Amino acid sequence: VAINNHLSLTLTIFRLRILQDLQLSILMHRLSYYYEVMSLSVSQQLVFDAANILHQGDLVAFPTETVYGLGADAGNADALAKLYAVKGRPVSHPVIVHLADAGQMNHWATDIPPAAWVLADAFWPGPLTLILPRASHVLDAITGGQNTVGLRVPSHPLAQALLQAFGRGLAAPSANRFGRISPTKAAHVREDFSDAELPWLLDGGDCAVGVESTIVAFQHGFPFVLRPGMITTEQIKAVCSSGGERIGTLTDVLPIPSLKELTQQEHYSQEGDLETIRVSGLLTRHYAPRTKLYLVPGFRLMATVEARLAAMASLEIKRREAPVDFSQKAKPTRFGVLARQAKPAALGLFGQQVRWVQAAKDAKTYAQELYAHLHALDALGLDVLLLEAVPENNDWAAIADRLRRASARA
Ligand code: TXA
Ligand code: MG
Repeated sequence: VAINNHLSLTLTIFRLRILQDLQLSILMHRLSYYYEVMSLSVSQQLVFDAANILHQGDLVAFPTETVYGLGADAGNADALAKLYAVKGRPVSHPVIVHLADAGQMNHWATDIPPAAWVLADAFWPGPLTLILPRASHVLDAITGGQNTVGLRVPSHPLAQALLQAFGRGLAAPSANRFGRISPTKAAHVREDFSDAELPWLLDGGDCAVGVESTIVAFQHGFPFVLRPGMITTEQIKAVCSSGGERIGTLTDVLPIPSLKELTQQEHYSQEGDLETIRVSGLLTRHYAPRTKLYLVPGFRLMATVEARLAAMASLEIKRREAPVDFSQKAKPTRFGVLARQAKPAALGLFGQQVRWVQAAKDAKTYAQELYAHLHALDALGLDVLLLEAVPENNDWAAIADRLRRASARA
Protein backbone atom coordinates (compact mmCIF):
# COMPACT_ATOMS: atom_id res chain seq x y z
CA VAL A 1 0.00 0.00 0.00
CA ALA A 2 2.76 2.37 0.96
CA ILE A 3 4.65 1.71 -2.27
CA ASN A 4 1.56 2.25 -4.44
CA ASN A 5 0.90 5.55 -2.77
CA HIS A 6 4.48 6.51 -3.11
CA LEU A 7 4.26 5.72 -6.81
CA SER A 8 1.17 7.84 -7.34
CA LEU A 9 2.81 10.62 -5.39
CA THR A 10 5.84 10.45 -7.65
CA LEU A 11 3.61 10.38 -10.71
CA THR A 12 1.72 13.38 -9.41
CA ILE A 13 4.92 15.29 -8.90
CA PHE A 14 6.01 14.32 -12.41
CA ARG A 15 2.73 15.46 -13.92
CA LEU A 16 2.91 18.70 -11.96
CA ARG A 17 5.86 19.78 -14.05
CA ILE A 18 3.85 19.90 -17.29
CA LEU A 19 0.76 21.69 -16.03
CA GLN A 20 -0.52 25.25 -16.17
CA ASP A 21 -0.86 27.40 -13.05
CA LEU A 22 -4.53 26.73 -12.42
CA GLN A 23 -4.19 23.00 -12.77
CA LEU A 24 -1.12 23.24 -10.69
CA SER A 25 -2.99 24.57 -7.68
CA ILE A 26 -5.61 21.85 -8.04
CA LEU A 27 -2.90 19.27 -8.14
CA MET A 28 -1.17 20.78 -5.17
CA HIS A 29 -4.36 20.04 -3.34
CA ARG A 30 -4.36 16.47 -4.57
CA LEU A 31 -0.74 16.19 -3.65
CA SER A 32 -1.41 17.04 -0.03
CA TYR A 33 -4.25 14.54 -0.10
CA TYR A 34 -1.91 11.86 -1.39
CA TYR A 35 0.56 12.79 1.25
CA GLU A 36 -2.00 12.30 3.99
CA VAL A 37 -3.14 8.97 2.59
CA MET A 38 0.43 7.90 2.32
CA SER A 39 1.49 8.80 5.84
CA LEU A 40 -1.62 7.16 7.22
CA SER A 41 -0.99 3.91 5.40
CA VAL A 42 2.68 3.97 6.28
CA SER A 43 1.87 4.11 9.98
CA GLN A 44 -0.74 1.38 9.59
CA GLN A 45 1.84 -0.68 7.79
CA LEU A 46 4.28 -0.05 10.64
CA VAL A 47 1.74 -1.30 13.15
CA PHE A 48 1.19 -4.50 11.12
CA ASP A 49 4.95 -4.96 10.84
CA ALA A 50 5.32 -4.46 14.58
CA ALA A 51 2.57 -7.02 15.24
CA ASN A 52 4.42 -9.48 12.99
CA ILE A 53 7.64 -8.88 14.87
CA LEU A 54 5.79 -9.70 18.10
CA HIS A 55 4.32 -12.86 16.54
CA GLN A 56 7.86 -13.91 15.63
CA GLY A 57 8.85 -13.66 19.30
CA ASP A 58 10.77 -10.38 19.15
CA LEU A 59 10.37 -7.26 21.25
CA VAL A 60 8.63 -4.01 20.32
CA ALA A 61 8.69 -0.87 22.47
CA PHE A 62 5.47 1.11 22.18
CA PRO A 63 3.79 4.14 23.76
CA THR A 64 0.98 3.91 26.27
CA GLU A 65 -0.83 6.82 27.91
CA THR A 66 1.20 6.25 31.12
CA VAL A 67 4.76 5.41 30.04
CA TYR A 68 6.39 3.54 27.14
CA GLY A 69 6.18 -0.26 27.39
CA LEU A 70 8.60 -2.94 26.27
CA GLY A 71 6.31 -5.48 24.63
CA ALA A 72 6.62 -9.23 24.10
CA ASP A 73 4.10 -11.94 23.21
CA ALA A 74 2.67 -12.92 26.61
CA GLY A 75 2.11 -16.49 25.40
CA ASN A 76 5.67 -17.06 24.16
CA ALA A 77 8.19 -18.17 26.80
CA ASP A 78 11.19 -17.45 24.55
CA ALA A 79 9.97 -13.92 23.86
CA LEU A 80 9.53 -13.37 27.59
CA ALA A 81 13.05 -14.65 28.28
CA LYS A 82 14.29 -12.08 25.76
CA LEU A 83 12.24 -9.39 27.48
CA TYR A 84 13.72 -10.12 30.91
CA ALA A 85 17.23 -10.31 29.48
CA VAL A 86 17.03 -6.97 27.64
CA LYS A 87 15.37 -5.18 30.55
CA GLY A 88 17.76 -6.71 33.07
CA ARG A 89 14.89 -7.56 35.36
CA PRO A 90 14.91 -10.46 37.84
CA VAL A 91 12.75 -13.29 36.45
CA SER A 92 10.75 -13.55 39.68
CA HIS A 93 9.08 -10.16 39.02
CA PRO A 94 5.64 -10.35 37.42
CA VAL A 95 4.80 -8.34 34.31
CA ILE A 96 1.51 -6.73 33.20
CA VAL A 97 -0.37 -8.25 30.24
CA HIS A 98 -1.84 -5.57 27.97
CA LEU A 99 -5.09 -6.34 26.16
CA ALA A 100 -7.07 -4.66 23.37
CA ASP A 101 -10.29 -4.78 25.39
CA ALA A 102 -11.91 -6.07 28.58
CA GLY A 103 -13.48 -8.94 26.61
CA GLN A 104 -10.09 -10.68 26.71
CA MET A 105 -10.00 -10.66 30.53
CA ASN A 106 -11.66 -14.07 30.77
CA HIS A 107 -8.90 -15.62 28.71
CA TRP A 108 -6.20 -14.54 31.18
CA ALA A 109 -7.99 -14.59 34.52
CA THR A 110 -10.49 -16.72 36.43
CA ASP A 111 -12.84 -16.03 39.34
CA ILE A 112 -12.93 -12.35 38.39
CA PRO A 113 -14.59 -10.47 41.25
CA PRO A 114 -17.57 -8.25 40.31
CA ALA A 115 -15.65 -5.19 41.49
CA ALA A 116 -13.02 -5.90 38.82
CA TRP A 117 -15.64 -5.76 36.07
CA VAL A 118 -16.98 -2.54 37.47
CA LEU A 119 -13.53 -0.97 37.52
CA ALA A 120 -12.71 -2.25 34.03
CA ASP A 121 -15.98 -0.80 32.82
CA ALA A 122 -15.27 2.58 34.41
CA PHE A 123 -11.57 3.03 33.63
CA TRP A 124 -10.62 0.91 30.61
CA PRO A 125 -9.15 1.75 28.25
CA GLY A 126 -7.01 3.75 30.65
CA PRO A 127 -4.25 3.86 33.28
CA LEU A 128 -5.51 1.07 35.54
CA THR A 129 -4.05 -2.42 36.12
CA LEU A 130 -6.09 -5.16 37.75
CA ILE A 131 -4.41 -8.04 39.60
CA LEU A 132 -6.60 -11.12 39.18
CA PRO A 133 -6.40 -14.88 39.74
CA ARG A 134 -4.45 -16.29 36.78
CA ALA A 135 -5.92 -18.67 34.20
CA SER A 136 -4.06 -22.00 34.29
CA HIS A 137 -2.29 -21.50 30.93
CA VAL A 138 -0.63 -18.21 31.98
CA LEU A 139 3.14 -18.66 31.98
CA ASP A 140 5.18 -18.36 35.18
CA ALA A 141 7.34 -15.79 33.40
CA ILE A 142 4.26 -13.52 33.40
CA THR A 143 3.15 -14.07 36.97
CA GLY A 144 6.56 -14.43 38.58
CA GLY A 145 5.28 -17.81 39.72
CA GLN A 146 2.40 -16.29 41.68
CA ASN A 147 -1.24 -17.26 41.34
CA THR A 148 -2.27 -13.86 39.99
CA VAL A 149 -1.90 -12.00 36.70
CA GLY A 150 -1.87 -8.23 36.10
CA LEU A 151 -4.11 -7.03 33.23
CA ARG A 152 -4.47 -3.62 31.63
CA VAL A 153 -6.21 -2.13 28.56
CA PRO A 154 -4.24 0.97 27.55
CA SER A 155 -5.92 3.90 25.81
CA HIS A 156 -3.07 5.32 23.71
CA PRO A 157 -4.22 5.09 20.06
CA LEU A 158 -0.95 3.53 18.92
CA ALA A 159 -1.04 0.96 21.75
CA GLN A 160 -4.65 0.21 20.80
CA ALA A 161 -3.77 -0.17 17.12
CA LEU A 162 -0.86 -2.47 17.98
CA LEU A 163 -2.98 -4.62 20.31
CA GLN A 164 -5.77 -4.88 17.72
CA ALA A 165 -3.31 -5.91 15.03
CA PHE A 166 -1.50 -8.32 17.34
CA GLY A 167 -4.71 -9.88 18.63
CA ARG A 168 -3.12 -11.47 21.71
CA GLY A 169 -1.91 -10.46 25.15
CA LEU A 170 1.15 -8.23 25.16
CA ALA A 171 3.43 -8.53 28.17
CA ALA A 172 5.00 -5.14 28.80
CA PRO A 173 6.94 -3.64 31.67
CA SER A 174 7.97 -0.01 31.39
CA ALA A 175 10.59 0.32 28.63
CA ASN A 176 13.49 1.30 30.88
CA ARG A 177 16.35 -0.72 32.24
CA PHE A 178 15.45 -2.27 35.60
CA GLY A 179 15.61 0.33 38.38
CA ARG A 180 15.85 3.34 36.05
CA ILE A 181 13.38 6.14 35.37
CA SER A 182 10.37 5.15 33.27
CA PRO A 183 10.29 6.58 29.73
CA THR A 184 7.63 9.07 28.69
CA LYS A 185 9.18 9.87 25.29
CA ALA A 186 10.58 7.59 22.58
CA ALA A 187 13.95 9.30 23.10
CA HIS A 188 13.98 8.12 26.74
CA VAL A 189 13.67 4.52 25.54
CA ARG A 190 16.63 5.09 23.23
CA GLU A 191 18.71 6.43 26.14
CA ASP A 192 18.39 3.04 27.84
CA PHE A 193 18.49 0.65 24.86
CA SER A 194 20.61 0.75 21.71
CA ASP A 195 19.24 0.11 18.20
CA ALA A 196 20.98 -3.25 18.30
CA GLU A 197 19.36 -4.31 21.57
CA LEU A 198 15.94 -3.03 20.62
CA PRO A 199 15.47 -2.46 16.89
CA TRP A 200 11.71 -1.86 17.17
CA LEU A 201 10.41 1.27 18.82
CA LEU A 202 7.09 2.85 17.91
CA ASP A 203 7.17 6.60 18.53
CA GLY A 204 3.81 7.88 19.73
CA GLY A 205 5.00 11.20 21.11
CA ASP A 206 4.87 12.24 24.76
CA CYS A 207 2.81 10.12 27.16
CA ALA A 208 -0.23 12.03 28.37
CA VAL A 209 -0.48 10.64 31.91
CA GLY A 210 3.23 10.36 32.62
CA VAL A 211 3.31 8.05 35.65
CA GLU A 212 2.61 4.31 35.70
CA SER A 213 -0.89 2.90 36.01
CA THR A 214 -2.77 2.55 39.28
CA ILE A 215 -2.52 -1.11 40.32
CA VAL A 216 -5.55 -2.56 42.08
CA ALA A 217 -5.55 -6.00 43.67
CA PHE A 218 -8.44 -7.80 45.33
CA GLN A 219 -8.81 -9.68 48.54
CA HIS A 220 -12.01 -11.59 49.16
CA GLY A 221 -13.41 -9.53 46.27
CA PHE A 222 -12.48 -6.18 47.83
CA PRO A 223 -10.22 -3.88 45.88
CA PHE A 224 -7.19 -2.20 47.33
CA VAL A 225 -4.56 -0.02 45.74
CA LEU A 226 -1.19 -1.71 45.39
CA ARG A 227 0.50 1.10 43.45
CA PRO A 228 -1.01 4.61 43.38
CA GLY A 229 -1.50 6.16 39.95
CA MET A 230 -3.34 9.09 38.40
CA ILE A 231 -6.63 7.22 38.76
CA THR A 232 -6.96 8.03 42.43
CA THR A 233 -8.13 5.90 45.33
CA GLU A 234 -11.04 8.33 45.66
CA GLN A 235 -12.11 7.67 42.08
CA ILE A 236 -11.87 3.92 42.62
CA LYS A 237 -13.84 4.16 45.83
CA ALA A 238 -16.51 6.30 44.15
CA VAL A 239 -17.00 3.84 41.30
CA CYS A 240 -17.11 0.79 43.54
CA SER A 241 -19.60 2.28 45.93
CA SER A 242 -21.97 4.17 43.62
CA GLY A 243 -25.31 2.75 42.46
CA GLY A 244 -26.18 1.92 38.88
CA GLU A 245 -27.30 -1.17 37.09
CA ARG A 246 -24.08 -3.13 36.89
CA ILE A 247 -22.98 -2.17 40.34
CA GLY A 248 -26.33 -2.81 41.97
CA THR A 249 -25.50 -6.33 43.07
CA LEU A 250 -22.10 -5.15 44.08
CA THR A 251 -23.06 -2.95 46.98
CA ASP A 252 -23.80 -6.12 48.99
CA VAL A 253 -20.34 -7.45 48.41
CA LEU A 254 -18.56 -4.17 48.53
CA PRO A 255 -19.46 -1.96 51.49
CA ILE A 256 -17.46 1.26 51.41
CA PRO A 257 -15.66 0.76 54.73
CA SER A 258 -14.20 -2.50 53.45
CA LEU A 259 -12.33 -0.83 50.66
CA LYS A 260 -8.73 -1.10 51.67
CA GLU A 261 -6.18 1.54 50.93
CA LEU A 262 -2.93 0.04 51.85
CA THR A 263 0.46 1.49 51.45
CA GLN A 264 3.17 -1.02 50.78
CA GLN A 265 4.32 -1.00 54.40
CA GLU A 266 0.84 -1.72 55.67
CA HIS A 267 0.46 -4.19 52.89
CA TYR A 268 3.42 -6.23 54.01
CA SER A 269 2.74 -6.01 57.71
CA GLN A 270 -1.02 -6.51 57.73
CA GLU A 271 -1.77 -8.76 54.80
CA GLY A 272 -0.28 -12.00 55.98
CA ASP A 273 -1.52 -14.08 53.08
CA LEU A 274 -0.43 -11.54 50.49
CA GLU A 275 3.09 -11.30 51.76
CA THR A 276 4.47 -13.25 48.85
CA ILE A 277 3.29 -10.68 46.30
CA ARG A 278 6.30 -9.28 44.54
CA VAL A 279 5.81 -5.89 43.01
CA SER A 280 9.04 -4.52 41.63
CA GLY A 281 7.54 -1.04 41.48
CA LEU A 282 7.24 -1.37 45.23
CA LEU A 283 10.91 -1.95 45.87
CA THR A 284 11.83 1.04 47.94
CA ARG A 285 14.49 2.33 45.60
CA HIS A 286 12.90 2.44 42.19
CA TYR A 287 12.31 4.93 39.41
CA ALA A 288 15.57 6.47 40.53
CA PRO A 289 17.83 8.83 38.61
CA ARG A 290 21.59 8.33 38.90
CA THR A 291 22.05 11.72 40.53
CA LYS A 292 21.72 11.75 44.32
CA LEU A 293 18.32 13.13 45.09
CA TYR A 294 16.79 14.72 48.19
CA LEU A 295 13.17 15.43 48.92
CA VAL A 296 12.79 18.82 50.63
CA PRO A 297 9.57 20.34 52.05
CA GLY A 298 8.62 23.52 50.21
CA PHE A 299 9.02 25.77 53.27
CA ARG A 300 12.59 24.56 53.76
CA LEU A 301 13.64 24.65 50.12
CA MET A 302 15.24 28.11 50.03
CA ALA A 303 17.10 27.56 53.30
CA THR A 304 18.48 24.30 51.91
CA VAL A 305 19.54 25.97 48.66
CA GLU A 306 21.26 28.82 50.54
CA ALA A 307 23.04 26.42 52.89
CA ARG A 308 24.36 24.47 49.91
CA LEU A 309 25.55 27.60 48.15
CA ALA A 310 27.29 28.77 51.34
CA ALA A 311 29.00 25.40 51.77
CA MET A 312 30.16 25.46 48.14
CA ALA A 313 31.52 28.97 48.55
CA SER A 314 33.51 28.15 51.68
CA LEU A 315 34.91 25.03 50.07
CA GLU A 316 36.00 27.11 47.11
CA ILE A 317 37.77 29.56 49.42
CA LYS A 318 39.57 26.70 51.17
CA ARG A 319 40.52 25.26 47.82
CA ARG A 320 42.13 28.51 46.79
CA GLU A 321 44.00 28.76 50.08
CA ALA A 322 45.28 25.20 49.96
CA PRO A 323 45.06 24.03 46.36
CA VAL A 324 47.28 21.02 46.91
CA ASP A 325 45.21 19.49 49.72
CA PHE A 326 41.95 19.96 47.92
CA SER A 327 42.97 19.09 44.40
CA GLN A 328 42.40 15.40 45.08
CA LYS A 329 38.91 15.85 46.45
CA ALA A 330 35.82 15.81 44.33
CA LYS A 331 34.63 19.35 43.95
CA PRO A 332 30.93 20.12 44.22
CA THR A 333 30.09 22.28 41.25
CA ARG A 334 26.42 22.44 40.44
CA PHE A 335 23.17 21.16 41.86
CA GLY A 336 19.63 21.01 40.52
CA VAL A 337 16.25 22.00 41.91
CA LEU A 338 12.87 20.78 40.73
CA ALA A 339 10.19 22.93 42.34
CA ARG A 340 6.68 24.17 41.75
CA GLN A 341 7.76 27.59 42.96
CA ALA A 342 9.56 29.91 40.56
CA LYS A 343 13.28 30.49 40.85
CA PRO A 344 13.69 33.35 43.35
CA ALA A 345 15.20 36.47 41.79
CA ALA A 346 17.91 36.41 44.45
CA LEU A 347 19.32 33.27 42.84
CA GLY A 348 19.87 35.05 39.55
CA LEU A 349 23.54 35.49 40.38
CA PHE A 350 24.03 31.78 40.89
CA GLY A 351 23.13 30.55 37.43
CA GLN A 352 26.40 28.60 37.34
CA GLN A 353 25.77 26.81 40.60
CA VAL A 354 22.03 26.13 40.53
CA ARG A 355 20.00 24.60 37.71
CA TRP A 356 16.43 25.47 38.71
CA VAL A 357 13.59 23.78 36.86
CA GLN A 358 10.07 24.96 37.54
CA ALA A 359 7.51 22.16 37.46
CA ALA A 360 3.78 22.61 36.85
CA LYS A 361 1.53 23.67 39.71
CA ASP A 362 -1.30 21.24 38.93
CA ALA A 363 -0.92 17.51 39.57
CA LYS A 364 -1.96 16.40 36.09
CA THR A 365 0.65 18.45 34.24
CA TYR A 366 3.24 17.81 36.93
CA ALA A 367 2.79 14.05 36.47
CA GLN A 368 2.90 14.36 32.67
CA GLU A 369 6.26 16.13 32.81
CA LEU A 370 7.89 14.57 35.89
CA TYR A 371 9.97 11.83 34.25
CA ALA A 372 11.03 14.12 31.39
CA HIS A 373 12.31 16.61 34.01
CA LEU A 374 14.13 13.84 35.87
CA HIS A 375 15.64 12.45 32.65
CA ALA A 376 16.83 15.92 31.62
CA LEU A 377 18.20 16.87 35.05
CA ASP A 378 19.87 13.48 35.45
CA ALA A 379 21.65 13.92 32.12
CA LEU A 380 23.36 17.11 33.36
CA GLY A 381 25.57 15.17 35.77
CA LEU A 382 24.74 17.45 38.71
CA ASP A 383 26.10 16.82 42.19
CA VAL A 384 22.71 16.64 43.80
CA LEU A 385 19.06 17.17 42.93
CA LEU A 386 16.72 18.86 45.41
CA LEU A 387 13.10 17.95 44.83
CA GLU A 388 10.45 20.13 46.37
CA ALA A 389 7.93 17.83 48.11
CA VAL A 390 4.39 17.91 46.72
CA PRO A 391 1.06 18.40 48.52
CA GLU A 392 -0.15 15.50 50.62
CA ASN A 393 -3.52 14.86 49.10
CA ASN A 394 -5.20 12.33 46.90
CA ASP A 395 -4.52 14.14 43.60
CA TRP A 396 -0.79 14.10 44.29
CA ALA A 397 -0.57 10.63 45.86
CA ALA A 398 0.96 8.90 42.81
CA ILE A 399 3.50 11.70 42.35
CA ALA A 400 4.44 11.75 46.04
CA ASP A 401 4.90 8.00 45.84
CA ARG A 402 7.28 8.24 42.84
CA LEU A 403 9.27 11.09 44.40
CA ARG A 404 9.64 9.13 47.61
CA ARG A 405 10.93 6.08 45.75
CA ALA A 406 13.26 8.12 43.57
CA SER A 407 14.83 9.76 46.61
CA ALA A 408 15.04 6.60 48.71
CA ARG A 409 18.60 5.66 49.58
CA ALA A 410 19.64 2.25 48.30
O1 TXA B 1 1.45 2.05 33.36
C1 TXA B 1 1.97 0.95 33.47
O2 TXA B 1 1.55 0.11 34.28
C2 TXA B 1 3.17 0.64 32.59
C3 TXA B 1 2.71 0.60 31.13
C4 TXA B 1 3.80 0.15 30.21
O3 TXA B 1 1.57 -0.22 31.03
N1 TXA B 1 3.75 -0.60 32.95
C5 TXA B 1 4.49 -0.76 34.05
O4 TXA B 1 5.04 -2.02 34.14
O5 TXA B 1 4.67 0.10 34.87
P1 TXA B 1 6.17 -2.37 35.18
O6 TXA B 1 6.50 -3.79 34.91
O7 TXA B 1 7.26 -1.39 35.10
O8 TXA B 1 5.41 -2.29 36.54
C6 TXA B 1 4.32 -3.14 36.73
C7 TXA B 1 4.15 -3.45 38.16
C8 TXA B 1 5.38 -4.14 38.72
O9 TXA B 1 5.68 -3.53 39.95
C9 TXA B 1 4.92 -5.56 38.87
O10 TXA B 1 5.59 -6.20 39.92
C10 TXA B 1 3.44 -5.40 39.15
O11 TXA B 1 3.08 -4.37 38.29
N2 TXA B 1 2.71 -6.61 38.82
C11 TXA B 1 2.52 -7.18 37.63
N3 TXA B 1 1.84 -8.33 37.75
C12 TXA B 1 1.57 -8.48 39.07
C13 TXA B 1 0.92 -9.46 39.85
N4 TXA B 1 0.40 -10.55 39.30
N5 TXA B 1 0.85 -9.29 41.18
C14 TXA B 1 1.38 -8.19 41.75
N6 TXA B 1 2.01 -7.23 41.08
C15 TXA B 1 2.12 -7.37 39.76
MG1 MG C 1 8.68 -0.06 35.65
